[in-house]
Amino acid sequence: MHHPRLVRATHWINFLSFVALAVSGFAILMAHPRFYWGESGYFDTPAAFELPLRVNLDQTGWGRDLHFLAAWIAVINGLIYLGWGLFSRHFRYSGYKPLQRFAYAGVVFGILPLTVLSGLTLSPAVTAAYPVLFSIFGGRQSARTIHFFAADLLVLFLLIHVIMTIREGLVNSMIAGVVVTK
Ligand code: HEM
Repeated sequence: MHHPRLVRATHWINFLSFVALAVSGFAILMAHPRFYWGESGYFDTPAAFELPLRVNLDQTGWGRDLHFLAAWIAVINGLIYLGWGLFSRHFRYSGYKPLQRFAYAGVVFGILPLTVLSGLTLSPAVTAAYPVLFSIFGGRQSARTIHFFAADLLVLFLLIHVIMTIREGLVNSMIAGVVVTK
């Protein structure tokens, strides 16, 4: 498979921003490792579920800054990839096997947009302008819980994706763009 330069560039920018998002997301999570459903929730209300993490408020400052920065890089980078992919008919003709197609399409058109949209719902500046986001997700706390699970699915995809591409000997195709006949 020959990967065009734009696919390779956006793929690796996406990976770097994803690592930053995962690390900073975990830093933010430590400040409040409890999840709720609906509009509201706090330490003094019952949680839908709770993670066995010690509450740590020290990491949330840089965590939020990095999460915000990396999220916008990921969104802009993703829009460039999507725009180009639609314009060049890359999505229509990329020669993946059915299972690869299903996994990549599910991530690009399903889990990634869901993570971005639920993440935007957690930004008071964004929901002040677009309160409809609360109705889509059934409240701020539901959006946070959905964001958490969608991000976990992406981490799971990443683990399987890395194992599969290494096992199939494809990694260099995404670095150098070489043609791999597999
Ligand atoms: C969050 C992180 C990642 C995401 C969301 C992601 C997503 C994707 C997507 C959507 C494609 C298809 C690209 C296209 O043809 O348009 C792809 C291909 C590929 N990715 Fe990733 N990727 C990630 C991280 C990685 C990492 C860390 C590696 C290194 C092992 C990797 C190696 C590859 C390779 C080798 C291909 C081409 C596979 C093939 O030709 O079948 N990816 N990735």
